[in-house]
Amino acid sequence: MAGAAEIEVHECRAVTDELVEAMQRLIPQLSSSNPPPGRTELEEIVASGATTLFVARHRDRIVGALTLVAFRIPTGVRTRIEDVVVDEAVRGRRVGERLSEAALETARRLGARSTDLTSRPSREAANRLYARMGFEQRESSVYRYTL
Ligand SMILES: CC(C)(COP(=O)(O)OP(=O)(O)OC[C@H]1O[C@@H](n2cnc3c(N)ncnc32)[C@H](O)[C@@H]1OP(=O)(O)O)[C@@H](O)C(=O)NCCC(=O)NCCS
Repeated sequence: MAGAAEIEVHECRAVTDELVEAMQRLIPQLSSSNPPPGRTELEEIVASGATTLFVARHRDRIVGALTLVAFRIPTGVRTRIEDVVVDEAVRGRRVGERLSEAALETARRLGARSTDLTSRPSREAANRLYARMGFEQRESSVYRYTL
């Protein structure tokens, strides 16, 4: 089993077969309604200046992923954490925390003063993780227009 020290988090700069296969395994553990990204979509994520894909590795296996989104708007640099997922086999070992810390470090480096994320209340583990890390709930309405 993974100990915290055995987990390495790094930014993906290239799309490998291993990454494509890992996302096929991980994304269904996050969303049943969105299919996992294929090579083309992953290449788009990795090539984009707006997104940074982080993966967590335990020995020879990718066991988690997180995408940081960063963009400039008139009021400053905004960053968002998206699509955080850790393989069921290693949950509860702070892999999610390590991924989030890596994202926060990059967000800071990019000049952001805060990082946003949303998580449904039913995602209990995720909500515990973010609260423990110091994310604070904001009073704001979240809207979605379905296209
Ligand atoms: C949310 C998620 C990324 C957390 O990853 P993780 O590496 O397990 O995170 P942590 O080890 O830091 O644990 C987070 C919390 O969940 C709890 N938890 C983790 N795995 C668990 C498991 N298998 N069973 C029960 N609780 C678990 C931990 O105890 C911890 O709570 P605590 O702070 O009260 O101790 C992971 O559970 C996951 O991928 N969930 C499904 C996808 C998802 O909800 N993503 C977030 C979208 S916003």
